[in-house]
Amino acid sequence: MRHLRTTLDVVDLKTLEGLLLRAQELKRHRVARRLAPTLSGRVIGMLFEKPSTRTRVSFEAGVKLLGGATIVLQGRDLWLGAPAEGADTGEVLRDTARVLGSSLDALVVRPHGPHATVEELARHAAVPVVNGLSDRDHPCQVLTDLFTLYERRERPYESKVCFVGDSVAIAQGYLALALLTGWELRLALPVGVDVDADLLKRAQARARVSLHRSPSDAIEGADVVSTAAWSRPVAPGFCVDDALLQRADDDVTVLHSLPAHRGQEITDDVLEGSRSVCFQQAQNRLPVQQALLEHLLGP
Ligand code: CP
Repeated sequence: MRHLRTTLDVVDLKTLEGLLLRAQELKRHRVARRLAPTLSGRVIGMLFEKPSTRTRVSFEAGVKLLGGATIVLQGRDLWLGAPAEGADTGEVLRDTARVLGSSLDALVVRPHGPHATVEELARHAAVPVVNGLSDRDHPCQVLTDLFTLYERRERPYESKVCFVGDSVAIAQGYLALALLTGWELRLALPVGVDVDADLLKRAQARARVSLHRSPSDAIEGADVVSTAAWSRPVAPGFCVDDALLQRADDDVTVLHSLPAHRGQEITDDVLEGSRSVCFQQAQNRLPVQQALLEHLLGP
């Protein structure tokens, strides 16, 4: 794996399982305070054009715990974007990518613009580029979601997963995981929110994957229910509440990538209740991303 632009960059189950096992080991080693400095001498740039709590802090802490260094760059710190006609500010992205790649060992990016920014950076920076959330995918998050299930369930790939929300990035990341693991996936997306048709078709050829407009249908018998913050007002019936969860499996695990908006996409009772693992999930971003960076950077 050269980059993590989307979850599809995790090309096979062997790579995925290597990452999950290593994340488990790193998590254990951190608790025991015996992490080896595997990123010593490495400098990781983190270009965030949008706010982030979990992604930014878990990458920074994770790199530093492994002996590496980080540089956090906000969009306004750089000459980003092509110079406007008649103006002398800005720089084409490929030049920025080449320069960043010449000083850094890897670059994590959360772009303000479309996913094409991640692809352009990966094309021109001579170092690994990691997508820290684009409009196409949130690979660090969905891999962490899988890791959280891996910690809790004996056979995580046999889960019946239901995603309820409007995040195309998470829905498409879950589709890529369905392609890899074969897990059963129901996507409950509001009317007007659609995933990539080709990716959906590919995932459906590999696993039981279905698209729903009604969460109450999608959630029937699910043993994992995942949601996320909405970028628009939550559609009626899409709030993950106790009534909706009554339709899921009795032993359902509830995931929320956070930040949460209690009373909108999820109720306070569900988020804070015994079925929810959202804070374990947030904590798991760190070891999963450590494992990813080690894998991308090599020995
Ligand atoms: N879940 C997630 O990516 O959180 P942040 O936006 O805080 O990074």
